[in-house]
Amino acid sequence: MHNFGAAAVTGGAVAALWLAPRPEPERALAWLVLSGWTAQMVSGAAFGAISFYYYRQLPDLSAVALLALEIKLACAVSGFALAVFYLFHATGRTESWHRNAWLMLTILAAMALTSAAFLRWFS
Ligand code: HEM
Repeated sequence: MHNFGAAAVTGGAVAALWLAPRPEPERALAWLVLSGWTAQMVSGAAFGAISFYYYRQLPDLSAVALLALEIKLACAVSGFALAVFYLFHATGRTESWHRNAWLMLTILAAMALTSAAFLRWFS
């Protein structure tokens, strides 16, 4: 689920950026991206819950890993909020507004993926 979510937020935003401005595929992709950010938050929290259930403590993360996790969390919250905003406020906006929204979602996904690599390496 976590890996599919990562693919959905990144692939969905890049595809929409590439297709823009085409309202129909963009809207479907916005739902895909929103599901992806939701999946990341749910499955990420499940990682922590599983650790806590088996070891009665959260993983002992290094400072770098903890920072990477915090960046991922911030990206997931921002990506979720931006995707919701896009779904409910995109109608009637200019072409450049659409491109900027997708560009920001692409940047957030890339930052989260980069942080995931740091978290993996330093944990
Ligand atoms: C609430 C947000 C998130 C939390 C709490 C979270 C938590 C975690 C944790 C605990 C791991 C395991 C690290 C390890 O085993 O070393 C992990 C792995 C990973 N995360 Fe996240 N994550 C979140 C969001 C994201 C996002 C937004 C992305 C990408 C867009 C992402 C991509 C990945 C990837 C690719 C892995 C490696 C999976 C693997 O090794 O199979 N995560 N995450």
